[in-house]
Amino acid sequence: MTEADAPHPDWDASYAGPPPPWDIGRPQPAFVRLADAGTLTGALLDAGCGTGEHTILAALHGARAVGIDVSPRAVGVARRKAAERGIDTSFRVHDALHLDTLDETFDTIIDSGLFHVFDDAARIHYVTALHSALRPGGHLHLMCFSDREPGYWGPRRVTEGELRAAFDSGWRIESLAPDRFDINPVRGAPTAEAWRTEIVRLALQ
Ligand SMILES: C[S@@+](CC[C@H](N)C(=O)[O-])C[C@H]1O[C@@H](n2cnc3c(N)ncnc32)[C@H](O)[C@@H]1O
Repeated sequence: MTEADAPHPDWDASYAGPPPPWDIGRPQPAFVRLADAGTLTGALLDAGCGTGEHTILAALHGARAVGIDVSPRAVGVARRKAAERGIDTSFRVHDALHLDTLDETFDTIIDSGLFHVFDDAARIHYVTALHSALRPGGHLHLMCFSDREPGYWGPRRVTEGELRAAFDSGWRIESLAPDRFDINPVRGAPTAEAWRTEIVRLALQ
């Protein structure tokens, strides 16, 4: 087992009990809209796929979809769901900070709730990893927790400025707008503020 596919105990533990807030048993509405618009196509990577709803959604819309996650439990559930639904997908336990060792490049990468888990240093590695795994002209569709969400519960809040700074070199931001995550209710709230962005990978970084 390499560093890239080593399980991360903390994330794996979050899948040991009742579903965590993000694991809603269906794809996020924002990604359903993207799929319906025909944008989840070609060789597609779902980075931090969790239990696989977005990987499966993309495969249902014709993508050759691969999901990766550091949690073996989540990947196990994702594989089971895809098998039960008869969907052709591939799931791997793999660290998104080491996408170069996947030995594959993608036309599309989707990220629902992974970017916001990284601290400042890891965020830089993640963006570099995304650049290495996405072909020039390929599209990244990313949705992360937003600073517009009040309070302190849950993941780190990301600002629009942080997103723009993270992708300011080697990328072109096509769109960046407020959206919402559906969640398993936290203190009664069934949704949380998000940023959703579509970003094109340029040839040079
Ligand atoms: C907020 S959850 C989102 C899961 C899924 N995308 C969804 O929408 O349900 C973040 C996911 O990222 C995974 N994760 C955390 N760090 C990771 C890393 N370095 N590489 C790959 N996956 C990671 C976690 O195990 C978790 O499944």
